[in-house]
Amino acid sequence: MNVRKITIAIDGYSSTGKSTMAKALARAIGYAYIDTGAMYRAVTLYCLDNGLLDGDRVDEAALEQRLADIHITFCPNDEGRSDTYLNGKNVEAEIRSMRVSDKVSIIAAIGFVRRDMVRQQQAMGRDKGIVMDGRDIGTVVFPDAELKVFVTADPMVRAQRRHDELRAKGDTTTSLSEVLHNVTERDRIDTTRAESPLRQADDAIVLDNSHMTIAEQNAFLMGAFAARSHSC
Ligand code: DC
Repeated sequence: MNVRKITIAIDGYSSTGKSTMAKALARAIGYAYIDTGAMYRAVTLYCLDNGLLDGDRVDEAALEQRLADIHITFCPNDEGRSDTYLNGKNVEAEIRSMRVSDKVSIIAAIGFVRRDMVRQQQAMGRDKGIVMDGRDIGTVVFPDAELKVFVTADPMVRAQRRHDELRAKGDTTTSLSEVLHNVTERDRIDTTRAESPLRQADDAIVLDNSHMTIAEQNAFLMGAFAARSHSC
């Protein structure tokens, strides 16, 4: 039996633990991993820090002009995890803050931003052997991916997980109901936007992890990977 290099697309709702599982899978099988949400988050941080966002209003003309000045890269840190850099600065922690989470869906709904990100993502995955997670990977970025997984979980379970994460990072002020509101609001914007709305690809495998342990998820993914990567 031969093993071929494949493309793995992991899409789904926010705070379903997609990134954690995609990262673990990539490490286990020796593939590259790209967190495309981090790219939209980095663009959002750039907008916040450069006065391109006023409340929920984006200065789209200025953003379009400055898009070529926004350089997003990923570099491994001392713990072997990949950190996100915006124009050479490590922004891994900042892009996970509520300040960015609150606005990122607005930026991710802009057509010219999406086209630019998709172009970069397709270039990163040109040689296969990649695990990419996001919202449109199996539908737009790599419609021919050999393995597509669509991850979902109960909104309250997702909010609780995100809340626990924020607490662990020292945020003691954001309430569970605020996080739940952010999760459901992002679901609404992500699924109803005109540009590449979040949807399950017809050929994706659905993974509802509301009541699954990390070990169960990993086993599920390894099984799906083994089935797709073997060619006779
Ligand atoms: O996965 P995440 O929560 O870090 O994603 C942040 C936001 O970016 C989320 O609101 C959806 C959006 N996103 C997207 O529209 N397309 C992607 N491929 C990845 C993320």
